[in-house]
Amino acid sequence: RPVRVFGVPMDLGADRRGVDMGPSAIRYAGLAAELESLGIDCDDGGNVAVPSPERTEPDAGRPHEGRAKYLAATERVCRDLADEVADAVADGAVPLVLGGDHSIAIGTVGGAARDRDLGVVWFDAHGDFNTPTTTPSGNVHGMSVAAILGRGSFAGSDWAAAPTVDPENVAVVGLRDLDDAERDALRESDVTAFSMTDVDQRGLPEVTREAVGVATDGTDGVHVSLDMDFLDPTEAPGVGTPVRGGASYREGHTAMELVSRTAGSALVSLEIVEVNPILDDHNRTAELAVELAASALGKRIL
Ligand code: ARG
Ligand code: MN
Ligand code: MN
Ligand code: MN
Repeated sequence: RPVRVFGVPMDLGADRRGVDMGPSAIRYAGLAAELESLGIDCDDGGNVAVPSPERTEPDAGRPHEGRAKYLAATERVCRDLADEVADAVADGAVPLVLGGDHSIAIGTVGGAARDRDLGVVWFDAHGDFNTPTTTPSGNVHGMSVAAILGRGSFAGSDWAAAPTVDPENVAVVGLRDLDDAERDALRESDVTAFSMTDVDQRGLPEVTREAVGVATDGTDGVHVSLDMDFLDPTEAPGVGTPVRGGASYREGHTAMELVSRTAGSALVSLEIVEVNPILDDHNRTAELAVELAASALGKRIL
């Protein structure tokens, strides 16, 4: 299948500026050429428009309880992104969405889950399982898994993917930084959560196979969301919220190669988020993002 790239220069969901430059950094690192060299027909759909924080009211559309900064603007961006993603899937392409902060996953999943039961594999140091009432930061990038499941005040919001994504078909891999209330909520939920302790003890191949199994079981397809902070900061220093103790360079490739091997044609969409070139070391995080996209889309060493 051809790949259709979308950039989402979004930083309304995170505290630090810079992730808005992620899509440019990943394109600059040679994404299109790398995919073409694999024989993949790669079409760039351009960027989805994102308002700048300087011109946006953070508390517009504030939920009744708690806080979710820039929620109204985030909803608008995610609706536009969801339409693009749904169109790409309907045209037989695999959408590859470049972030931007992780709040954009609400749009990607919303589009990918239109007209199908979707499973999700979420590679991340963080659970992104806060709601407007549990969040310590008010940042929507820490709430996107909760949003796509319609939890808390995201219940009934027609722009999130719920109820087409079932928590029993969601697996999170790589956890090592959870807020207290977020941890409790995640443990009580039907989401399958693999921490770095699980990765240490069982190995990433087994954990990834199980995660893909959760996402494919009884669904029509799988979305893979890769937060670059899944990787250790020694390999991916250019991310908004780095956390020590992440996946190694080889583990990153192993995870993406297994996604390609085990999900195969069930892979509906892919997204790579949280690249922050301002915090990076000579664009190496974006270069790694390109390599990992290639592995997820079928590149093999032999
Ligand atoms: N748990 C923290 C919060 O809610 C950090 C979330 C980081 N999320 C991310 N997508 N990088 O603010
Ligand atoms: Mn994340
Ligand atoms: Mn993260
Ligand atoms: Mn279902």
